[in-house]
Amino acid sequence: METRHMRVVRRPWATTSVVSWLLLFLLHPLPTAADCECGYSTTTTANGGAAASDLVFSELLESDFTRIDYFGDEYKGPRRWARQVFDKSASTARGPFGEAYVTGNAVSNIVTTKKIKTTSNNDNGGGGGQGGLQLVVGSKVVDGMVQNAEIATMGQDYFHGTYRVGLKVTDVPGTCTAFFWYFNDTQEIDIEFLSHEFNHANNSYPVNLVLQTAQSRAAGYDASWSDTGTFQKRELPFDPTAGFHEYRIDLLADRVVFYADDKVLATMTGGDGIPSVGGNLLLSHWSNGNPGWSAGPPAADARSVVSYVKAYYNSSNATRGEEAWSRCEKAPAGSTKVCKIPERDRGGFLSDPGSGGSGNGGGDNANGQGNNNNGDGHRNAAGPLVATGSLRALALAVELGAALWIFGLWC
Ligand SMILES: *[C@@H]1O[C@H](CO)[C@@H](O)[C@H](O)[C@H]1NC(C)=O
Ligand SMILES: *[C@@H]1O[C@H](CO)[C@@H](O)[C@H](O)[C@H]1NC(C)=O
Ligand SMILES: *[C@@H]1O[C@H](CO)[C@@H](O)[C@H](O)[C@H]1NC(C)=O
Ligand SMILES: *[C@@H]1O[C@H](CO)[C@@H](O)[C@H](O)[C@H]1NC(C)=O
Repeated sequence: METRHMRVVRRPWATTSVVSWLLLFLLHPLPTAADCECGYSTTTTANGGAAASDLVFSELLESDFTRIDYFGDEYKGPRRWARQVFDKSASTARGPFGEAYVTGNAVSNIVTTKKIKTTSNNDNGGGGGQGGLQLVVGSKVVDGMVQNAEIATMGQDYFHGTYRVGLKVTDVPGTCTAFFWYFNDTQEIDIEFLSHEFNHANNSYPVNLVLQTAQSRAAGYDASWSDTGTFQKRELPFDPTAGFHEYRIDLLADRVVFYADDKVLATMTGGDGIPSVGGNLLLSHWSNGNPGWSAGPPAADARSVVSYVKAYYNSSNATRGEEAWSRCEKAPAGSTKVCKIPERDRGGFLSDPGSGGSGNGGGDNANGQGNNNNGDGHRNAAGPLVATGSLRALALAVELGAALWIFGLWC
């Protein structure tokens, strides 16, 4: 009895104070460590002699296509992406073939075996083949139409922002893989890979950077109007078909900057060319047989694979702007109000990319695009939600364990 009593009085309390200290350490700083109430920051490159500067954006949409099927049932509500279904006749498509965009060619091939940390590892998806969202151009032409794939954000309010995609491009010649921002045919920004232009023999991997403007429209959207300065072909310093790389479009008030893996490929400042309204983000993989652009159709099914999209932006919706402002104003003292965008950290997300319509992201609109009700009680797409959650759970478990132990010793 005596020894037992001694143990109860000394060791457990010594242990609980360590536990309490640990709990304080674990619980206290984390919930306010990175709440991002005032947005997300990145540093942009200098422009025309002006110094590089920090940009801050209020909204985010982070999508992890290696782990999440955004087209699954659980995303049918406030989902953030939609497969596009439409046809373009051969004449509209300006190619010998028409283009059919079909849902079956945007294949969510998520990796189920382990959590992916980086997109540089080429894990297979549950369906076999490269894990991620596979955008397929079929080799079989159906009723004069090449079978293509396209996905788009439901939100249409993506305005000034930094837009990033993890992408592994097909090496089957005869397709165009595109990551683009779109409002209309004269307000559009594209990164386009033409697989027939790749040449493994001399290590030539060009990428086409396009700012569609009224001028390019006047020129009949002919890819050769390069004198406008809003069409530039750049050699990539790597083989885009061998692995995932990050491609990025920064749309700012006075310029559009294109990047590959953090390296600036081109900056366009063309007068009337910079978009003046909000638009949406799209990814497509297509062919119409036009020898002057996509070439093809491909001799075998061609797959380009998307691992993630990260969008940090300001909404063109004034109401969302006001909401962002008030969120920032109400940020509690001690929170990290502005979060730094993880630069090319392929595993790094500031929000939970699995939540139905996470936090600030997505942009509500008439299409029913995700609002802030992701049901997890976090108003913001705040900081390391997942980490915070699991640490809280761990701390709770430790606490419960300690309490049970003390209880057991007392009784
Ligand atoms: C985005 O909006 C915020 C809030 O209005 C503003 O402070 C910030 O400068 C904007 N960012 C850019 C790059 O325009
Ligand atoms: C695209 O939208 C802009 C801004 O509203 C407008 O000025 C332009 O005429 C539109 N272009 C086309 C092709 O409709
Ligand atoms: C590589 O070879 C192709 C085909 O001959 C040619 O069109 C292209 O310009 C070459 N690229 C480079 C970077 O030398
Ligand atoms: C603008 O945002 C508000 C608040 O999120 C939303 O209720 C409204 O539907 C949006 N308006 C448009 C035109 O998308």
